[in-house]
Amino acid sequence: MIVMENIRKAYPGREGAVEVLNGVSLHVHPGSYAALTGPSGSGKSTLMHILGCLDTPTSGRYLLDGQDVSRMNQAQLCAVRREKIGFVFQGYQLMTKLTALENAAFPLLLRGVAEHERMRAAAEALRRVGLSGREHHRPGEMSGGQQQRVALARALCAKPRLLLCDEPTGALDVDSRNQILDLLDELHAEGHTIVLITHDPFAASRAAQRYRVANGSVISAGERTYPS
Ligand SMILES: Nc1ncnc2c1ncn2[C@@H]1O[C@H](COP(=O)(O)OP(=O)(O)OP(=O)(O)O)[C@@H](O)[C@H]1O
Ligand SMILES: [Mg+2]
Repeated sequence: MIVMENIRKAYPGREGAVEVLNGVSLHVHPGSYAALTGPSGSGKSTLMHILGCLDTPTSGRYLLDGQDVSRMNQAQLCAVRREKIGFVFQGYQLMTKLTALENAAFPLLLRGVAEHERMRAAAEALRRVGLSGREHHRPGEMSGGQQQRVALARALCAKPRLLLCDEPTGALDVDSRNQILDLLDELHAEGHTIVLITHDPFAASRAAQRYRVANGSVISAGERTYPS
């Protein structure tokens, strides 16, 4: 699903470019569940934006489903995102004027799905994240943890092959976190490929493969050997 080879990413800075990723190689097989951990500022979100075709590497090669996305133009990247990828952003990035239902349904709107089907799928996604009854609330009328769950509902609503979750449980209490981790297990069992970024060792321990982002690269931090 994901083959990254020697990915580098530098951001321009006042005192020269700041190299955040300096040679990341990462292979994630279809249907895997991988967790990325690492210190704050180590480049996890930067890597997720590249994985999600929202940003392009400074150099290196990235194949997604066998397609070389590092050579695609913006319109092609946009189509890849729309068809294949669901995101939970670290800062949620919900649309403030839209209700929970409309936010969750948004990826289906981009895919041209009819309204009735969009609303049905969005209501089902909100149910899966435990937000039935909040369909018509706007983000400003919800708690941080509820907004975070709307973000997850939006990510899974279109049943994307690749689900990228950047700290999807950071704002949740233990019970809600565990419900969301159970949901990620279900989505994994349904065949979605999941990349989970987390500071929470318990959340990371639920993934089959674990990686650590540090000093600009990604190293394997172990695999789950027992059945889930
Ligand atoms: N658009 C940008 N321009 C310049 N520097 C950036 C930009 N985005 C990120 N950085 C820098 O890249 C580094 C990695 O940031 P990133 O957000 O990827 O870290 P992270 O591992 O996700 O951290 P956290 O755990 O706190 O979310 C940081 O030093 C940050 O300042
Ligand atoms: Mg981050």
